[in-house]
Amino acid sequence: MEKDKKVVILGIESSCDDTSAAVVCDGVLLSNVTATQYVHEKYGGVVPEIASRAHEQNIIPVVHEAIAMSGLDKKDLNAVAFTRGPGLMGSLLVGTSFAKGLALSLNVPLVDINHLQGHILAHFIDEPNVETPHPKFPFLCLLVSGGNSQIVLVKAYNDMEIIGQTIDDAAGEAIDKCAKVMGLGYPGGPIIDKLARQGNPKAFVFSKPNIAGYNYSFSGLKTSFLYTLRDFVKENPNFIEENKIDLAASIEFSVVDILMNKLKKAAKDLGIKEIAIAGGVSANNGLRNACREAAEKYNWNLYIPKFSYTTDNAAMIAMAGYYKFLDNVFCDISLPPYSKVIFD
Ligand code: KG4
Repeated sequence: MEKDKKVVILGIESSCDDTSAAVVCDGVLLSNVTATQYVHEKYGGVVPEIASRAHEQNIIPVVHEAIAMSGLDKKDLNAVAFTRGPGLMGSLLVGTSFAKGLALSLNVPLVDINHLQGHILAHFIDEPNVETPHPKFPFLCLLVSGGNSQIVLVKAYNDMEIIGQTIDDAAGEAIDKCAKVMGLGYPGGPIIDKLARQGNPKAFVFSKPNIAGYNYSFSGLKTSFLYTLRDFVKENPNFIEENKIDLAASIEFSVVDILMNKLKKAAKDLGIKEIAIAGGVSANNGLRNACREAAEKYNWNLYIPKFSYTTDNAAMIAMAGYYKFLDNVFCDISLPPYSKVIFD
């Protein structure tokens, strides 16, 4: 590449139910367009077949709009970055195939992005004329979403190590399932968050996991919540309705407590004070407040993402693509998407 030429990356995200495209120029975000599939709400969860069909319909207009909004042309792109996994296979195939076709037609390299690493690198999204503090390496990132709960040691943009992760349910999955048992809508996380703000977090106590190291477990908590509800509802059929806010506050408190205990332990053991949170559950107010309290107490430099970058978005994929491009790490066109977690 010529020395002073700008680096322009298109990012494409299609791992679940959001079709998103973004353009980054020299590490600055120029556009970020997302089509969210609300069709799944009425089914109480994402229906994979419907998701992949919706991606197929959305991908061309979303990419087109992202390029148009960036003020650039597709001929300006230096690489196409895309989410290769983990996620729903049918959804990933749409973004992957589209990215491959576009990269081939433009004769530019392909950059494959691990969706989870993308969530972490959301902390490096720079918007024009906005000062965003970036975590300094090495930092610890609590990555919490509907499919994953991990503590990641981030040594560099392209060097990350999972030091702890859930051995069963993810934090978001557990919250969503508890919300479902209470008859709340989908996804339950934001609804629990809203209700919890008015409730008493100590009203109900649920069983806590006892797992070694920095690993998590949430399935026991979920079962404990279910049995508590079952026992109280036997006595009083209106129990859930009458105790909705306290139940929400108590389950949120338990999840946050479990997440924070391991994060504090890891930070102390490794002597790291640069701490970040990422993923859908990092939008949770209870978790954000608990992190702020811990930051105050333990002198952490805390990094909390903007709400719009907690959920799935292509800005984080384009940004991750930019740093892989700078390191000359490209993807062979023959590589397929992957549905399960792998860290390269
Ligand atoms: O990262 P994400 O958008 O998608 C993946 O799982 O990859 O995370 C979605 C998860 C869902 O479980 C959703 O309920 C949860 O994030 N979530 C929240 C909040 N907003 C989203 N959980 C608790 N409080 C919130 N405010």
